Amino acid sequence: MRSHYCGQINSSHIDQEVEICGWVHRRRDHGGVIFIDLRDREGLVQVVYDPDLPEIFSIAEQVRNEFVLRVKGRVRARPEGTVNKDLPTGEIEILGLELEVLNRSDTPPFQLDEHEKASEEIRLRYRYIDLRRPEMLEKIRVRAQVTKSLRRFLEDQGFMDIETPMLTKATPEGARDYLVPSRTHPGEFFALPQSPQLFKQLLMMSGMDRYYQIVRCFRDEDLRADRQPEFTQLDIETSFMSEDEILQLNEEMIRQLYKEVLDVDLPNPFPRMTYDEAISRFGSDRPDLRVPLELVDLGDLMQSVEFKVFSGPAKDAKGRVAAMMVPGGSSLSRKQIDEYTKYVAIYGAKGLAYIKVNELAKGIEGLQSPILKFLPDEVVNAILERTAAKDGDLIFFGADKAHVVNEALGALRVKVGQDMELMQGDWRPLWVVDFPMFERDEQNDRWTPLHHPFTSPKLDQLELLESDPGACKSRAYDMVMNGVELGGGSIRIHQQDVQQKIFQLLEISDEEAEEKFGFLLSALKFGCPPHGGLAFGLDRLVMLLTGSSSIREVMAFPKTQTAACMLTSAPSEVAPDQLRELSIRVRKPAAEEGA
Ligand code: AMO
Ligand code: AMP
Repeated sequence: MRSHYCGQINSSHIDQEVEICGWVHRRRDHGGVIFIDLRDREGLVQVVYDPDLPEIFSIAEQVRNEFVLRVKGRVRARPEGTVNKDLPTGEIEILGLELEVLNRSDTPPFQLDEHEKASEEIRLRYRYIDLRRPEMLEKIRVRAQVTKSLRRFLEDQGFMDIETPMLTKATPEGARDYLVPSRTHPGEFFALPQSPQLFKQLLMMSGMDRYYQIVRCFRDEDLRADRQPEFTQLDIETSFMSEDEILQLNEEMIRQLYKEVLDVDLPNPFPRMTYDEAISRFGSDRPDLRVPLELVDLGDLMQSVEFKVFSGPAKDAKGRVAAMMVPGGSSLSRKQIDEYTKYVAIYGAKGLAYIKVNELAKGIEGLQSPILKFLPDEVVNAILERTAAKDGDLIFFGADKAHVVNEALGALRVKVGQDMELMQGDWRPLWVVDFPMFERDEQNDRWTPLHHPFTSPKLDQLELLESDPGACKSRAYDMVMNGVELGGGSIRIHQQDVQQKIFQLLEISDEEAEEKFGFLLSALKFGCPPHGGLAFGLDRLVMLLTGSSSIREVMAFPKTQTAACMLTSAPSEVAPDQLRELSIRVRKPAAEEGA
């Protein structure tokens, strides 16, 4: 049907006859001549119809945006002065000799080059039209390039692509499950996998040695720009490899990917940082290293100050008092500081004290701050020294429970870095290592795993499992890029007694462990090799590589923030017959009952 893609025609084709197919991007009438910009996957080309061929000309007059055409014509150089340097095909045009309307189109719900005027809801409802936009097409193309590159790397390293079940038992990754009712087992449910974690471990026990899968995962959790209910992991597991070897192999894969897709050389090796250091310096276990701002502890200075806002958390074992110095920050207006105070309140901060350093030479007189009156001069001087603040700088303070200070100042650090254009470097990968095994769930007064319950503790810390679980570190690692958690994994537990001990610590009873993970505990008895692996968020990786602000932009058919599909109107009610077959009776939420 065609000889070329629209976007591939250039001056090397001048005087040739070509046949192309595509969509009408724009049609213009210019004093008896009709110009049609025809668009396909590879780009745009201008077709000209003049009235010398009256029959064809009258068809051209009737075409509208998004009609599908087949065009035959002769390539010619554009006349002097009409060359379009911004367009790859901008030196030529096609003199139309034939024109067939393959299909008509209703007026589209939005014009492709005016998509910003359309709401995201409309764009998602008509996703197939939104995907015609060249930027969207490019993102989907990069995504395909990424999976191709990752597959090639892993295949070359001897990894096998193995599929694991979608209808399965719950895999605990910290989210709610999507459940699927079973018709053949009334009242029983499958869970869609939150990850293939347990299956990939079982594959190691089967001796598969090196497994990978590009796999859909399902998590019913609160959605954000980098979270979807259904997303894709590049999932990897290996046997007989040390932590070091796993990290090296995976960063090599990401380095190669960046080289191939963006022609960017990432550092070799990636820097590594312990979880404790990341939290202490950046308030976050996924620090954006492009932001050159750091948190500094002040707890020791604040023990005996009168200002309770600071002395309280300083004396509390779970509290933290920290400062963050912002170079040049004294130019921030009162209004901007108020905005930042509102911003940290999202993370639970009760205020945002600050000191503006106007002129150090003038001593305390040269400072400007709502808290100076509460702090002795020697404490203020110690703060200035510790933060190395100079004239023109500003120091922000956070004082509260440590997790509040970390989240608030950690987020503020990135926001101020962006607002004040302090970012340094384009790509800053990082491994965060030595995560704690557990965190305290204060509400339910129990330990929960920071990664998942199959993660191995550090071998030299096994006795801490008994004496001080909160202090026990795990063999887990996360790959972070520019503040985004790209992937994470761990060395797994391969001894049954250790796995059982972890379940006990998590207060999972023997019966519950048997019911939920009996198959794993049993498999651990039959010759389980030491193994470990990780999973990357493929959507997040492509989001970063394409400079997108949300993973929705790099998924062909994403869901909304309320986990719905606008295009198909899923989820939706099902017929009573279907429910009966599944032995399900639906009880609507109270508000709708009786309505
Ligand atoms: P984890 O839960 O850290 O680990 O997930 C791995 C990576 O998957 C991505 N990710 C998501 N992406 C989009 N939407 C979501 N809702 C979402 N949730 C997670 C993140 C994350 O780093 N089985 C373990 C891996 C292992 O131990 O090997 C796991 O699933 O980029
Ligand atoms: P107040 O004594 O409440 O007027 O607070 C004095 C200053 O301390 C104000 O600038 C507040 O924004 C700030 N502040 C109050 N609580 C905190 C806190 N928990 N952490 C940091 N600054 C705070």
